[in-house]
Amino acid sequence: MRDRLTIRRPDDWHVHLRDGAMLAAVAAPTARQFARAIVMPNLSPPVTDVAAAQSYRARILAALPEGHDFTPLMTCYLTDATDPAEVRRGFELGVFTACKLYPAHATTNSAHGVTSIAHIRPVLEVMQAIGMPLLVHGEVTDPAIDIFDREAVFIERVLVPLLADLPALKVVLEHITTAEAAAFVLAHPDRIGATVTPQHLIINRNAIFAGGLRPHAYCLPVAKRETHRVAVRKAVTGGAPNIFLGTDTAPHMVEAKISACGCAGIFSAPTALELYLEVFEEDDAIDRFEAFASENGARFYGLPLNDGTVTLERVAQEVPAVWDAGDSHVVPFRAGETLRWRMAA
Ligand code: NCD
Ligand code: ZN
Repeated sequence: MRDRLTIRRPDDWHVHLRDGAMLAAVAAPTARQFARAIVMPNLSPPVTDVAAAQSYRARILAALPEGHDFTPLMTCYLTDATDPAEVRRGFELGVFTACKLYPAHATTNSAHGVTSIAHIRPVLEVMQAIGMPLLVHGEVTDPAIDIFDREAVFIERVLVPLLADLPALKVVLEHITTAEAAAFVLAHPDRIGATVTPQHLIINRNAIFAGGLRPHAYCLPVAKRETHRVAVRKAVTGGAPNIFLGTDTAPHMVEAKISACGCAGIFSAPTALELYLEVFEEDDAIDRFEAFASENGARFYGLPLNDGTVTLERVAQEVPAVWDAGDSHVVPFRAGETLRWRMAA
């Protein structure tokens, strides 16, 4: 049995760092574990232009601890009114790494999202031409579609036609949760990437209702039934070259989670690597962990691999019960539970 694992420094290809007091509380754990992270733009108001991304990036850097070595990679929140020239300018300046497509009203702070792909077609054409990845929250918002089916229906209704229309556009299907998504991603290794969160590898939808309503197990896309978890997990630990680490760590203050209309989002940043490593270990795939955490994403984005390493050791640790933020706190994923691995200092 292996007791230590040293891998190339990893990246997190999907994080929500928020702003203000929450940013001050959650930037450090992500920067401790990862060299780079794709930062989601769903602030309120969202990050929709170059100036907003530059100023958000400066606030993130100011929130990091002394001596950090962490690069936030900024994204542009697409709306029906996004200017293709602004997207091109942001990418060419090195401010925007990618654009994020939220179907309007699909998730937290997506009210300004895209109401129809037709509205952003000129933007997508530019992205295709310059090789800029499109990051997709892949769920339809049609209220007639059952919430557990919204990802699979998105693939059929939106993604398949989009890929046919723009044959060279690079697309990342974010936080995949279904057997349909896993199969689709596995079938298109050269032009589709995918991120997978720790929670979608670890819990199924029963966790949301275990003995009562469990707001801290609720995120979007919502966890699915066990067959889907197993299919996604098989794709990940089976070593698919186009699937990579993206925690979707999405902190909300406890009051916003425990509410009559609680927010979607699971906060996993403090122990992200350890959570994933347990999964790879259980699937007898520790040898494939480094590619998932530190190589596949950079290759898909066309970015250099990181220098340096991180080491994980087999030392049990308890996930903190609470994570202080401003004058309240966030409850982390698997709070109070014991994990088998710990990142070495
Ligand atoms: C995210 C958030 O809170 O910003 N929530 C979530 O459940 N994942 C938004 C998102 O990525 O859908
Ligand atoms: Zn997200």
